[in-house]
Amino acid sequence: SDISVAVIVGSLRKESINRKLANGVVKLKAPGFVFNFIEIGGLPLYNQDFESDPSPVVDDFRAKVAAADALLFISPEYNRSLPGVLKNAIDVGSRPYGHNAWGQKPAGLFGASPGGIGTAVMQAHLRDVLAAVGVNVYSGAEVYLTVKDGFFTESGDINEGTQKFLQGWMDGYVDFVKKMLA
Ligand code: FNR
Repeated sequence: SDISVAVIVGSLRKESINRKLANGVVKLKAPGFVFNFIEIGGLPLYNQDFESDPSPVVDDFRAKVAAADALLFISPEYNRSLPGVLKNAIDVGSRPYGHNAWGQKPAGLFGASPGGIGTAVMQAHLRDVLAAVGVNVYSGAEVYLTVKDGFFTESGDINEGTQKFLQGWMDGYVDFVKKMLA
C-alpha cells in the first residue's frame, strides 16, 4: 500500500511562501507516496498540566502524526531558528512521556525565505529538535531556497527550473524513506 507522508508547514499566514512551496512539492513525482497536510495552527500552547486530559484537537493531531509513515517539514526561518508554532507542535506530539508520536519516523525538511540564507539556520535547529524526538532526517541533499520574483508563476506554481531541482531532492527523499521503512 501507499507510503503516507504527513506534511507540516511552519507558517500560519494565508499568503505564506512556504505553504505555496509545500503545495507545489506534494505535486512532484513520488510514486507510491501520498501526502497529507497536518495543520498546527489550532493546537494549544503546550502545557504539561493538561497532559493527563488533552483536548480533542491534541488527540487528533497526535493520532494523525502517529498514523503517518514519514514526515515532511517545510518552514520559514524566524529569528534564525524555527518558528515557535512549529516547535510547539513538535512538543505537543512528543508527549506524554513514553507516547512520542514522532518516534523513529523518516523525515525531510527544508524551507524558503526572501533572504539569502534560505532558512539554513532554521534547518540546523530543526534537525537538532527532530533528533531529540527520535526522527531520522534525510540528509542526502540539502535545499536552501531564496524566493525572488519569478520563483512562483502567476498561477502560484513553483517555476520550472526550481521544480526540476526539487524533483532531484524528492527522488533522494523517496529512496531514503523506502530504505528506512524496509
Ligand atoms: C522573519 N524572516 C526571516 N527570514 C530569514 O531568512 N531569517 C530570519 O531569521 C527571519 N526572521 C524572521 C522573524 C519573524 C518573526 C518574521 C515574521 C519573519 C522573514 C521571513 O523569511 C519571511 O517573512 C517569510 O515570508 C516567512 O515565511 P512565510 O510565512 O511566507 O512562509
